[in-house]
Amino acid sequence: MSEQKRILVTSALPYANGPLHLGHLAGAYLTADFYVRYKRLTGADVAFICGSDEHGVPITIAAEKEGVNPQDIVDRYHEKNKKVFEDFGISFDYYGRTSSRVHHETSQEFFTTLNEKGFFKKKTEQQLYDPKADMFLPDRYVKGTCPNCGFEEAYGDQCENCGTSLSPTELENPVSALTGEKPELKETEHWYMPLGDVQPKFEKWLDTRKNWKPNVMGQVKSWLKDGLADRAATRDLSWGVPVPLPEAKGKVLYVWFDAPIGYVSATKEWALQLGDADAWKKYWQDEQTQLYHFIGKDNIVFHCIMFPVVLMEHGDYVLPENVPANEFLNLEGKKLSTSRGWAVWLHEYLEDFEPDLLRYALGATLPETKDSDFSWKEFQARVNNELAAVLGNFVFRSLSFTSKFADGVVPELVDPAGTDVEALKAIDSQKEKITSSYEAFRFKEAIQESLQLARIGNKYFTETEPWKTRNDNPQACANSLHVSLQICAALSVLMEPILPDAMKTLRSQLGYTGKVDWDSVSDAMLSAGSAIHPGKVLFNKVEDEAIEAQIKRLEERAAVDTPVSDFPALKDNIEFDDFMKLDIRAGKILSAEKIEKSNKLLKLQVDLGIEKRTIVSGIAKHVDIDALKDQKVCVVANLAPKKLMGVESQGMILMAEDSEGNLKFAETEAEPGSTIT
Ligand code: 2FM
Ligand code: ZN
Repeated sequence: MSEQKRILVTSALPYANGPLHLGHLAGAYLTADFYVRYKRLTGADVAFICGSDEHGVPITIAAEKEGVNPQDIVDRYHEKNKKVFEDFGISFDYYGRTSSRVHHETSQEFFTTLNEKGFFKKKTEQQLYDPKADMFLPDRYVKGTCPNCGFEEAYGDQCENCGTSLSPTELENPVSALTGEKPELKETEHWYMPLGDVQPKFEKWLDTRKNWKPNVMGQVKSWLKDGLADRAATRDLSWGVPVPLPEAKGKVLYVWFDAPIGYVSATKEWALQLGDADAWKKYWQDEQTQLYHFIGKDNIVFHCIMFPVVLMEHGDYVLPENVPANEFLNLEGKKLSTSRGWAVWLHEYLEDFEPDLLRYALGATLPETKDSDFSWKEFQARVNNELAAVLGNFVFRSLSFTSKFADGVVPELVDPAGTDVEALKAIDSQKEKITSSYEAFRFKEAIQESLQLARIGNKYFTETEPWKTRNDNPQACANSLHVSLQICAALSVLMEPILPDAMKTLRSQLGYTGKVDWDSVSDAMLSAGSAIHPGKVLFNKVEDEAIEAQIKRLEERAAVDTPVSDFPALKDNIEFDDFMKLDIRAGKILSAEKIEKSNKLLKLQVDLGIEKRTIVSGIAKHVDIDALKDQKVCVVANLAPKKLMGVESQGMILMAEDSEGNLKFAETEAEPGSTIT
C-alpha cells in the first residue's frame, strides 16, 4: 500500500434552523462522503468532521418566527439533521454543534489570540438600529432595496437576486425584518478583520495552491481583484459566542467567524470521545495533514479567504489543501426554494426510497463545475437503466447462473480465452481510472467509470453466452462465471463509496470475506470453490407511479404561493363527534394588560355574550396592545382552565399564524356569544 497522508475532511456546518434537502446533500455532503469513503479504503488516516451551525441570524429569525427560544430551534434541528445524515450513510467521524462548551472556548481562544497579536481593527461606526425592538439590525434583520440590481427584498448581508454581498447600511429604503419599522442609525463599536491588509500575504499562499477547481479559484480571484474589504468579526446580538473582552459586553462573535472554527472544536470533541484528548492536534497542527473543505458555492469566500486568513494569522494551524466547492443544484429545471416549497426534503425521500438510489442518481448529476439539475424522471432513468439494468442485472445473472449451473460455488478458471483475460484486465484498468477520478475530485466521472466496469461485465456475460456453453463447452461456461464473479467482487469494493448498503449486500451474496480495501481489489478476490449466497435483487425498478407521485407533490406545494415548508403539515383527520366537542364562541376583547415578567403573555378580559372571561394569550409580540379593545375574536370556550404565570386562563383565543410566523386574529363579525361551528 502506498504511503498515505493524514487527511482532514470537513463538510460545511448546516444551520440548525430547518430540515435538510437535496441541495444540501449535493452541495457539501455527498461528495465529501464519496471522497472520505474512497480515502479510507485506500488506507488513509481520515477524520471526517461536520456539525450544526447554531448561531447567527438564521437561527434567531427561525426562533422568532415560531415564538420559541433559539436553543429550542437548534436542539430540534441538530438531532433531526444528524439523523438524516446517518440515514444517508454520510459517514462523519463526529457531528458536533457550535453551541457546545468546547466550541465556545475554542472560538474565544481564536479571538483572544488574534486580538493579542493585534490583528483586529477596532472601529466605531453608525449602524442600523430598530428602536421599537431595541436592537441593532445586523445581516438578515434588515431588508431593503439592493443598490446593485434594485431587488426590493434584499437582505442586509446579501441580495439573493444578484448575489452581491452587502452590508445593512448599503440597502436603500431599509426596514427592520423584526418590526417593519424604518431603522435609525446608532453608534456602535466592532472588531474588524483587516482582510485588505493581509491580502498580499494571502495571495502568496494562494499561489501555492494547486489543482483548485476553476469555478472556485475564479471566484476567489474575482474577490481579490476588487480588493478585500475589512469584515467585522463581532455583532450586536444576544445569541452567539460572547466576545471574550470585558469592554465588549452584549456583543457576540460574527457567525462566520465562529462557524468554521466549529471544525476545530468538533475535532477536539471527537478526540475527547476517543479518549485521547490531544489527538485533534495531529489533524490540525501537523503539516503532514491535508485539509479539505467540502462546501457549496455560496460559502466560497468564507472558506477560501476568510477562514484561511484566520488560520494563517493565528499561526498554529494547517491551511486548506483544496476546497472542492460545488455549484448549485436546480430541481426540475427551476431554482430550489425552500420558502416556495420547491425542494425535496431528505427525510421525506427516505419514506419512499433507499438512500443508495439517491446517492447514485444525485452523484451522477452533481453540480461539480457548473449548476446542474435534478429531475425525478432522470432519477428513475438512472435507477432503472443503470443501477437495475446494468449493475443489478449483471450481478443477478452472475449469481443465479452460478447457483443453478455451478453448484453455487465459484468455478475454477482453466485455460482462459482471450475474452476472459480481457475482461479480467478491465478490473485493473477501471480501478486506475476510478482512482484518478477520485483523486481529482471528479466524482461524476468516478461513478461513470465504476458503472463502466459493470457494463463491461454485462457485455462479457452476454457475449460469452454461458447459457449455451454450459452444454457444449462446460469449462468455457465455468470460466465465464468465474470471471463474472470476480468482476462482481471488484465492483463490490470499487462502488462501496457510492453504494455502501448495496455493496455490503453484494459482498455477502458473493461470500466475499476478504479485506474491504482498495489494495484488495484485483481479478482474484474470490477463490475457486468458495460458496456464494444469492439473495434479494440489489435494485428494484422505480415504477412510473412512484415518480408521478413525487412530481405531483412538488407541483402541489409550489402551486400554493405561500411558503409551504414554513407551515406545519396537516394533522390527521378527526371524527365529526370529536369536532363537535369543541365549543367555539364569538367574543369581543374588553381590555388587555401585560403580564409582568413575561414578554409574550397578555391578560385579556373577553365578553362572550353569556359571560365574561379572563384569557391569557401569548400574543404580546404580535399585536398593538392599545388597539385591542373591541377586537372581535373567536374563543375556544370549553378548554379546561389553566394557570399561566399565576393567572387562570379560561379559554383560548384563536389566532392564525401566517407564513412569516406572525399571529393574526381569526376574526368574526358575529355578535359575542354566537356559536361557531
Ligand atoms: O451556509 C451555511 O449553511 C453555513 N451554516 C455554513 C457554515 S460552514 C462553516 F463555516 F461552518
Ligand atoms: Zn441585487
